[in-house]
Amino acid sequence: MLENWVGMELELTSIFGIREYGIGSRLLWHKDREHLLISATIPVQFDVPWNLEVEDNNGDMIDVDLKVGEMLFYEGALRLHGRNTRFRGKSYKNMYVHFAPKYLLEPPTEVTTFDVAFDKPKGPQPTYI
Ligand SMILES: [Fe+2]
Repeated sequence: MLENWVGMELELTSIFGIREYGIGSRLLWHKDREHLLISATIPVQFDVPWNLEVEDNNGDMIDVDLKVGEMLFYEGALRLHGRNTRFRGKSYKNMYVHFAPKYLLEPPTEVTTFDVAFDKPKGPQPTYI
């Protein structure tokens, strides 16, 4: 489904969870690291809803009310997201699954001038044990 959404081949890069949050928890707005570019968040179990806020194409934050059994796709490394409102329940369990486009993860197939310019420094190299 995610490959259809983004229109390119993806590779699984991380799975976080099941994470459990307790009363008063808060996830400040943030963007994920590059290898977490394409993300899915999956609520597993909760006693009180806790909306996810995600930046839309206009830069506005929108509230998403996810129910158990639903999943939200978002561009974790490009869009601000989080749960700035403190959780009011006792337990919220969630999973996060992250992907990156395959072309970003594959090593280059040919040497380019960029690769040569940023090659290892010349001269003796330190030895690491
Ligand atoms: Fe995130």
